[in-house]
This record gives sequence, structure tokens and C-alpha cells, in this order.
Amino acid sequence: MSRSGKVTVVGAGFYGSTTALRLAEYDIFETVVLTDIVEGKPEGLALDINQSRSIEGFETKVVGATTTADGKGYEATANSDVVVITAGLPRKPGMSRMDLIGVNAGIVRGVAENIAKHSPNAVLIVVSNPLDEMTALAQIASKFPHQRVMGQAGMLDTARFTHFVAEKLNVLVASVKTLTLGSHGDTMVPVPSRCTVDGKPLSEKLSASEIEELVTRTRNGGAEVVALLKTGSAYYAPSAAAARMARAVIKDTGEVMPVCAWVDGEYGISGVYLGVEAEIGRTGIKKVVEGNLTASELTELKVAAEAVRSKQADVKDL
Ligand code: LAC
Repeated sequence: MSRSGKVTVVGAGFYGSTTALRLAEYDIFETVVLTDIVEGKPEGLALDINQSRSIEGFETKVVGATTTADGKGYEATANSDVVVITAGLPRKPGMSRMDLIGVNAGIVRGVAENIAKHSPNAVLIVVSNPLDEMTALAQIASKFPHQRVMGQAGMLDTARFTHFVAEKLNVLVASVKTLTLGSHGDTMVPVPSRCTVDGKPLSEKLSASEIEELVTRTRNGGAEVVALLKTGSAYYAPSAAAARMARAVIKDTGEVMPVCAWVDGEYGISGVYLGVEAEIGRTGIKKVVEGNLTASELTELKVAAEAVRSKQADVKDL
């Protein structure tokens, strides 16, 4: 198998280290770099993952590097093709993603500046919360074209929705297709008209109130896990989502995925990072794909766009 490319994962917490592990196990990259500000942690985790290679059967090498806020250690990330930014604090029980904006803005800004210095051609995948705002901030701080900066949220929210539908109907997850757009937060927009089970509309399988119940659980999907864990937030499903996006970039697959992307006229919405479907490839967002929405779904998407627009306007000063 031919391996190529270098991917960096910034932040070696559970989300970052699990993402690095998944990326390494794909066995498609030459190198996976894992960084953190906690001295020795990324090096230790990299060593540990590398020692699993002969058992799991992959050759990708993992490099750990301790970095500092003023940019030391970033040489290890130089010329990365893809960078997944997980840096920042996770939520504690009872917190909303938006409660993290002040502290995480400073962290994400510094990371994006340092990454841009060393990997000027990278595609950035942001997962730090609040997601839509941190994605907008990473673009501002990196000064990268909008198409090369995206956020991970829709893949995760969609996967949660799919899981809940499959559980409710006791069917295979593979038979379920769901879609969520909008923000990774209160204005997440589930799109029931695009949800199917074995190709049949979800509305033929579940009542409107049953769908609404699953939609609410999806919207609160992250908080439900935080409340159970008590320390930290979800990372298995989130890392699966981020790793798939990085793979779509390096393999230039052109897969259409729900992601946080810069919207420029699609759905009559402009100038905001928002959860939409987009074609992902080597250049980042190749194209935002405008799907068919019902009138009420479109209205909800526009409401979400205005909600995140007002928050994103604030981030440049944070
Ligand atoms: C979640 C966090 C990672 O939704 O945003 O679980």
C-alpha cells in the first residue's frame, strides 16, 4: 500500500489522541504528528501508538511533539498537508459549548497562527468548541483561504442522529441515512426530509413527535455524554468524524459530507461559517452542495446562519 502525506493533530487529549490513532490505523499517511503543551504527553502517546503497529498491522509513523504557546516545537509539524485542531478545553457538566468561547479563542488563535507559519498550504479541520466560532477564528488567524479551513460537526451530529434512529427502530445503522445542518449547538438543524430507512422516508416509520424526540436528543447529544462522563466530553464518535474528513482530504475523494464550511450564496446565505453539505478533497472544501430542503428546514437554516453570524462577528476581537 502506498502511503503519502503528513497530518498533524494539535492537542493530545482524548479527542486528539484518538483521532491520531484512527488516522495512523488507516495506514494511508506517511506520518501522523501529535502535539500538546503538556510536556512529554504527545511523545509518550506517539511511542505507545507506534508500538501497536506490528499488532494492528500498519506502517504509518506517529511523531509526538511538545509545543509552547509562543511557537516552540511547531517545527515537527512543518509542511503538514492536513491539520486537525482539537486544542482547547472541553465542557464540564452543565456548560454550553458557548461557555468556552473566551478561553478557547486565545488557544485556537495561537495554534492557527503557528500552524500557518509552518504549514502554509495545509487544510485545517477545526473541532474545538464552540465549533462554528472557532472555525471562523482559525480562518482569520491563519489567513488561509476560506476553502482551506473547515470545522467538524455535521458528521458527528448526523452519526448521533443515525444511531438514535437505528436504536429506536431496531434496524442496522447502515440502513439509516440522516442529515443535520446549521450550527453545532442550539441552532442545529436536523433535516427530516432527507432522512431515510432502507431508502424509505423516516416519516413513514416514525411519527412527527417521535422524530422530534430524537432530534432533541441529537441536539443535546454532546451534553448527554458530558453529563455521564463528568470530566471531559465525547471523543470516540467525534474522532471518527474528524479522521474521516482528514482522509477525504488526503485521498481527494470528493465525498459529500456535512461539515462547517464557508457559505457564499448557497441557500441565499452569505459570508458565514455554517453546517452544510460539501464536497471534500485535496484543496479542502471543493464545493458547498445545496440540497433540497423543505420551506421550514430552509427557514431554520437561515435562523441558524444569523445566530452564528452574530457570534462569529465577535471572534475577531477575542
Ligand atoms: C460533542 C463535542 C465534542 O458534541 O462538541 O461531543
